[in-house]
Amino acid sequence: MSRRAAFALALFAAATGAAAQQHAQPQGPADGDLELGKFLSETCVACHQISGRMSGAVPTIVGFPPPAFVEAMQQYKNGLRPNETMRTLAASLSDEEIRALAAYFGSVKPTY
Ligand code: HEC
Repeated sequence: MSRRAAFALALFAAATGAAAQQHAQPQGPADGDLELGKFLSETCVACHQISGRMSGAVPTIVGFPPPAFVEAMQQYKNGLRPNETMRTLAASLSDEEIRALAAYFGSVKPTY
């Protein structure tokens, strides 16, 4: 192998190694997948108004800071918040899906 090829290979290994490491890092709530969040939000907007307006007993969830959103969802999931509907919904979502929803709803601006 020429020195040049060896050097290129070493660079490649360093680059892919760095990418793999980045991927393995725990993701924060703001790192959710927006597209996935938008897709999953279809279920939520049956009750929660996408405009951000309150509707009856259903609170607004748009423009929520993602960490607070994730925390609320975890509290439904682990039973700290008692609402039966939200508990069932949150229990059916993975942590990745909750992060995605947090990122999506956090990015939506109230429009009313
Ligand atoms: C059947 C109606 C309904 C659906 C569907 C629904 N929610 Fe809710 N959600 C509620 C109600 C009612 C509350 C208030 C519950 C309470 O008092 O704890 C709530 C509360 C919340 C809260 C807490 C808000 C706050 O101010 O603390 C979050 C976050 C939330 N919902 C997210 C979601 C997400 C994400 C989805 C979709 C996966 C969803 N909801 C689907 C009815 C619904």
